[in-house]
Amino acid sequence: MTIIRNCINMGASPIQTLREDAPMNQPRISPRVPLIAAVLGAAACLAFAAPARAQEKVLNLYSARHYQTDEALYANFTKATGIRINRVEADDAGILARLKAEGAASPADVILLVDAARLWRGEQDGLFQPMKSAVVERRVPAQFRGADTGQGPQWIGISTRARVVVYDKARVKPEQVDTYEELAAPALKGQVCIRSGSHPYNLSLFGSMLERLGPQRTEAWLKGVVDNLARPPRGGDTDQIRGVAAGECAVAVTNTYYFARLMQSGSAADRDLVARVGVVFPEQAGAGTHVNISGAAVARNAKNREAAQQFIEYLTGDDAQRMLADGNNEYPVVPGVRTENPALAALGRFKSETVPVARVGANTAAVQQMLDRVGFR
Ligand code: FE2
Repeated sequence: MTIIRNCINMGASPIQTLREDAPMNQPRISPRVPLIAAVLGAAACLAFAAPARAQEKVLNLYSARHYQTDEALYANFTKATGIRINRVEADDAGILARLKAEGAASPADVILLVDAARLWRGEQDGLFQPMKSAVVERRVPAQFRGADTGQGPQWIGISTRARVVVYDKARVKPEQVDTYEELAAPALKGQVCIRSGSHPYNLSLFGSMLERLGPQRTEAWLKGVVDNLARPPRGGDTDQIRGVAAGECAVAVTNTYYFARLMQSGSAADRDLVARVGVVFPEQAGAGTHVNISGAAVARNAKNREAAQQFIEYLTGDDAQRMLADGNNEYPVVPGVRTENPALAALGRFKSETVPVARVGANTAAVQQMLDRVGFR
């Protein structure tokens, strides 16, 4: 009875399909998604009801990534291994909620999420299992893996993105914003735009600040940023960049790929906007710019454990790394992998922070309490 109810839920549950991360040239709502969900739901039910077709190897993937280039990434894996990938796409919160609701009956084998704060949350909620892999240890720097549980980390970075400051070239000099701490400087009163403090991208940035500055200085800094806001936090990172271009704010915070997207936009207005806005990689003279990840995890109740590991190891290969990074204007997590992305090349090389993303994730709970205290919505 439980199984049947789960089956019905799987096929019929409305999946969140709003794509905060969607490239601008793609529809934000994917019409494919409900169909995939229905098919996968039905497939899972068939698997429960009758033995699977003999020897067909499958991998059930829950992904918060949703870029066209990822299609080729999956197709290449199937070609190389014969393992068919069933995919459920939803946003990160939707995937975490779904895994919780499905519990032990979940068909998920591998989960792809964006941001260390969310990966850490999934680990805390017991949704993943550790994975020990010599390939991953060799390819992915320890800084970008979850904390080692003794049986390996519970999640592994597959691409990186930097959190940078953009500014109005007419009103601000880059040296005014070349540290994150300067976002709280009195000179920028009423001029800073940033999305919600509680969004994972900001929780992670602030978690990194907490690691570096300690609790007192971090909370004072957060209070200073709130005092400097040009408007109450709203919208995504791209909206903050647009706010700078429109003169509503002089300074804003964004992940690199959003800016790179605008740089490569087909719209002349977007490219015009980019020309008015400068970009700074903060902390180049200090700790380095805050860098986050998108990452992969083996699901707690994975039925295809071996295929799951094979897939995650595949994602760390040179070709997969290039596709993962270029598809969303991100950076490869594996050192030395070359990409060809004119926008990222134009943004240039930069020094990254070295704080482990696992520490950043673990700090986000304390950060949320600070945000509540200083009224950073
Ligand atoms: Fe994003």
